[in-house]
Amino acid sequence: MQDSNSGGISSSLNVPGSTPSGDINAFREILKGAKHIVVLAGAGLSAASGVPTFRGAGGLWRRRDVLSLSTPASFIDNPSRSWQFHHYLRELALKAEPNDAHLALAHFAVPHLRHAVSPQSSFTLVTQNIDGLDRRAFERVFSASGLPSPLSLDMEPTVFQQEDPLLIEMHGLVCGVACTDYSCRHRELNMQSPICPALAGTEFLVDLPDPALDAPKDDVRRPRRTAAEARAWAEARLAGTHASHSAEPDIPNSALPKCSKCGSLVRPDVVWFTEVPRHAEKIMKIVDHADVCIVVGTSAVVHPAATFASRVKSHGGVVAVLNVEHGKLDSHADFLFLGPCEQTLPKILALP
Ligand code: APR
Ligand code: ZN
Repeated sequence: MQDSNSGGISSSLNVPGSTPSGDINAFREILKGAKHIVVLAGAGLSAASGVPTFRGAGGLWRRRDVLSLSTPASFIDNPSRSWQFHHYLRELALKAEPNDAHLALAHFAVPHLRHAVSPQSSFTLVTQNIDGLDRRAFERVFSASGLPSPLSLDMEPTVFQQEDPLLIEMHGLVCGVACTDYSCRHRELNMQSPICPALAGTEFLVDLPDPALDAPKDDVRRPRRTAAEARAWAEARLAGTHASHSAEPDIPNSALPKCSKCGSLVRPDVVWFTEVPRHAEKIMKIVDHADVCIVVGTSAVVHPAATFASRVKSHGGVVAVLNVEHGKLDSHADFLFLGPCEQTLPKILALP
């Protein structure tokens, strides 16, 4: 591991407190000498494809914080709501197209193209994104280069057995489903749109619900409505004239997506808060021998992804951060390229 970091890469860039460089040519010199490049990607990578980020402006769905919907507890409490949220994400992902940042990374994954920029390096893209746009970009670019796709439509890329897999989807895929029956545990990709008739169209109900109506009755935080407001709402609901955006469909489990093997309820095959990211050990090994870490479009607040940059720094590697704004990783960055990654990444990784 130590050997992989000797030669080529200078850790003298790594001066705590120093201002990161924005010099693309200097970073391309670093890439020239790199041996193991790891890219950590987050929601900002897919922003230009129309997939909203988790935090900030994009972080609400039906006025709920999306982070609160990304837990096992929220699925157990309300499978109908959880499925409607994930169905919304599935539909977004299925309709979205990879953008220039995905494509730049996919080109870099093609060995002979990468080696024109970084002649000796391996490459792994570790993505926190669940939209599957990274693998779609890979498939597109490899096929355009006349190469067999390095992936398959299986749950795991076929290259995963290799020392440095090209792509690791550490939070799973929103188009994956996993059986909730522990004696079955079947997992598969399901790209159908809609995934089941009961969810069809619910992705358009984006103004739902009024959390005040949903809160438990003894919840002291529940905002008070005036009697007139409450009566008007109840009357409209009874008469069935309330706008479709004012009531959340309550879909029974029997109408939610089912396991193709045993017929039990399936869940979205994504990693929620409190769950362990996929291939965590393998990722840490890759991070620990990376001499260059490029962090793209992530707030890097979720573990273990939050630690990648500091781990690479701790063994003398170089860290480049690409983001539209300053963030907590700036203090670890040797290079900081501010701007939309769909513009900066193609420049940084471009063929000479
Ligand atoms: N180019 C570069 N960066 C961008 C762009 C863009 N076009 N658009 C947004 N960003 C940046 C934002 O400034 C922010 O730092 O992308 C980051 C997105 O951060 P988050 O919304 O927190 O998403 P992410 O870091 O991927 O979240 C990590 O948290 O909710 C969980 O499991 C979920 O995988 C997710 C994880
Ligand atoms: Zn099953």
